[in-house]
This record gives sequence, structure tokens and C-alpha cells, in this order.
Amino acid sequence: MHTILLTGGAGFIGSHLTRLFVKKYPQYKIINLDKLTYAGNLENLRDIENEANYKFVKGDITDLTLLRRLFDEHKFTAVLHCAAESHVDRSITEPLAFITTNVLGTGSLLQAAKEAWASDMDGKIFYHISTDEVYGSLGEEGLFTEETAYDPRSPYSASKASSDHIVRAFYHTYKLPVKISNCSNNYGPYHFPEKLIPLCIHNIISNKPLPIYGKGENVRDWLFVEDHVRAIDVIFHTGKIGETYNIGGHNEWTNICLVRELCRQMDEKLGRENGSSEKLITYVTDRAGHDLRYAIDATKLKDELGWLPSLQFEEGISKTIDWYLANTEWLNHVTSGDYQKYYQKQYKV
Ligand code: NAD
Ligand code: TYD
Repeated sequence: MHTILLTGGAGFIGSHLTRLFVKKYPQYKIINLDKLTYAGNLENLRDIENEANYKFVKGDITDLTLLRRLFDEHKFTAVLHCAAESHVDRSITEPLAFITTNVLGTGSLLQAAKEAWASDMDGKIFYHISTDEVYGSLGEEGLFTEETAYDPRSPYSASKASSDHIVRAFYHTYKLPVKISNCSNNYGPYHFPEKLIPLCIHNIISNKPLPIYGKGENVRDWLFVEDHVRAIDVIFHTGKIGETYNIGGHNEWTNICLVRELCRQMDEKLGRENGSSEKLITYVTDRAGHDLRYAIDATKLKDELGWLPSLQFEEGISKTIDWYLANTEWLNHVTSGDYQKYYQKQYKV
């Protein structure tokens, strides 16, 4: 039995995590605290918003007074901390927003949990959801393990690395019962179309250029979002307190090969001539400080907790494209208004 403060539940991964926990654990109570930034969208949770074990609270994780009140009111036994500023390109133009939410916000949550659980930490869990980007950039060889030294290079990854360190500091100093996972790039339904995969799906649908940074040779290790939240579920329930687990798909793609695969599948699904979407590929100025390669070694999670990814990439991409084609209303809503301004500024169009 848990009463869980889940932060950032209206975002991409947070909405999948909320859905999984609300449906799979009707005996738990899930309180979703989300500021509803541009990335937070209650449409992501329409199917579960009226469930008896779910409640939404609009608020900011940097607001310690609010956090104290929520801990007092709901007597949380666990925190699933997903809220963050999450897009590398935005962190390059607005680093302070990342430092505020990712560092100060995580620190505020830890402080509120520490105060609320001071007299009894038994059975409590503070689960911090993090990224493989904290490990920096790999060359052509090697994989990130849980022992890899942190070497973040973007304001986003540096803010996430800081938050990971503060979480561990609360474990070592105050014995706060923490767990951390560092996951590779996710993809799937409800992914905001500022990130590579949904941006390209959206642009292929609307016949717009597909912007590839640099030569398209950077490598990412892609994992279907439902596999990520399944891993979080396993770690939450059976992972050890104080431990870190890497989560990854053993699924490395260069950006250009990935976008070509997207084009191939979308030509087929949209009944377009084979090769027509590839003509939209446009090489643009590289991202500043662009990390070359990320790749995760998830052996610890497999050997100790028995988790493995369930989907092959081609199948996951096919499911993802089908979802976007069936949910054009969602896509139209999130790409109206502020998205247009962001897009023009980022891609100078
Ligand atoms: P997202 O940007 O889609 O969603 C973030 C959510 O947090 C939004 O709902 C937003 O409204 C909310 N939020 C932002 N600032 C807030 C604040 N100050 N107070 C309360 N809520 C706030 O992000 P995502 O891609 O779903 O990522 C979720 C988590 O997973 C992040 O911690 C991210 O670092 C981590 N992660 C993401 C990936 C990925 O590929 N997307 C991979 C590994 C780890
Ligand atoms: P992204 O989805 O932003 O995730 P991250 O930077 O966290 O890995 O980008 C994935 C890769 O795609 C990364 O190498 C940057 C590249 N990219 C492009 O080439 N063009 C784009 O328009 C975007 C958004 C990303």
C-alpha cells in the first residue's frame, strides 16, 4: 500500500508512469504534481483522470511551502520524481530554468521528504528518475555502466547530474531511502514534438524539412517509453535502497539511419512513393557541444531484477507512428501557439 507523490505526471514519461501505476495498483493513491509547463499536458491523461485512486495538483516542485502542505495532507509513503526541464536545445538557450527546476526543485522535494519522514523512514521510497546523459559522451566503443564517472556537458545533463548527486547526498547524510535510475533516450506516444522522433513524424506528415544536426552521425540508444516505465515499476518494488540502475534498450542508431527508417515506414503507412519522405532530410548547423554517442549497459537491471526490453525498435517505431497518425488532434493542439515561436527561433524558419 502506497500513497505516492508523482511529479511531472503530465509530461511524456510521467504520463505513461502515472497510467501504469493508476491502472496496475488500484490500492495505491497517486497524486500527480505538475506545473504544466509547455511540456505538461493533461490531455496525456484523459483516460485515467477520473480514476478513484488518482488526483492532479497544479504546482511547482520548487515551492517548498506547497510541498510541505502536500506531505502533511496526504502522508506520502513514496515519491516518484519525474518533473524536469528535459530538452537539451532549450537548456542551451535558457540554462537557468534547468538549474531552477532540476536542481532546486529536486532539492526542495528531498527536503520536504526528509522533514516528513524524519521520525520513520521505514518502507518509504524516494525514487529519482534520471538520464544516461549525466555520464557525458562516449567514443565509438564502450557502454555506460553504473560505475561510469559523471561527465555532463550540456546545461540539461549538468543539472540532472547535480540532482543525482544531491539525491545521493541525502541518502548518505540523512539515510533518506532513495533509488535512482538513469535511462537512455525514450520514444513513443505523447512525446512532445521538439524531440527528434516526434518532430520528424510531425514534419513528415506536414511535408516539412527534417532538420538533422551536423552530419547525422551522433548515436543514441532508443527505448520504448512503456519499457522504461515497466523498469521503473520493477525498481520501485524490488530494487535496493541506495542503489542506481541503468535502463537501456541495447538499441543504438545514428540519427540519420533512424530518420531514414522513419521515412521508410511513413512512406508505406501514408501510401507515398518509396523515397519521397527522405527528400525532406535537411542537414542544419550542429547543436553546440553535441554529445557524440550514448549507450547503456543494463546488465545490472537484467541480472539483479530480471528486466529486459520487450519491443524491437522497428516494431516500437511502427506503433509510435500509428499512434501519431491516429491522434492528429493531440498533435495539432501541442503544435499550436508557443510551439510555432519555439520552432521558428530554434530552426530559423
Ligand atoms: P517532459 O519534458 O515531457 O515532461 C516534464 C514534466 O515536468 C512536464 O509535465 C512539466 O510540466 C513538468 N514540470 C517541469 N517543470 C516543473 C516544475 N518546476 N514543477 C512541477 N512540474 C514541472 O519530460 P520527459 O521526457 O517525460 O522526462 C521525464 C523525466 O525523465 C525527466 O526527469 C528526464 O530527465 C528523465 N528522462 C527522460 C528521457 C527522455 O528520453 N525523454 C530519458 C531518460 C530520462
Ligand atoms: P533529442 O531527441 O533532442 O534527444 P537528446 O538530445 O536528449 O539525445 O535528440 C536526439 C538526437 O537527435 C541528438 O543527437 C540531437 C539530434 N537532433 C537532430 O539532429 N535534429 C533535431 O531537430 C533534434 C531535435 C535533435
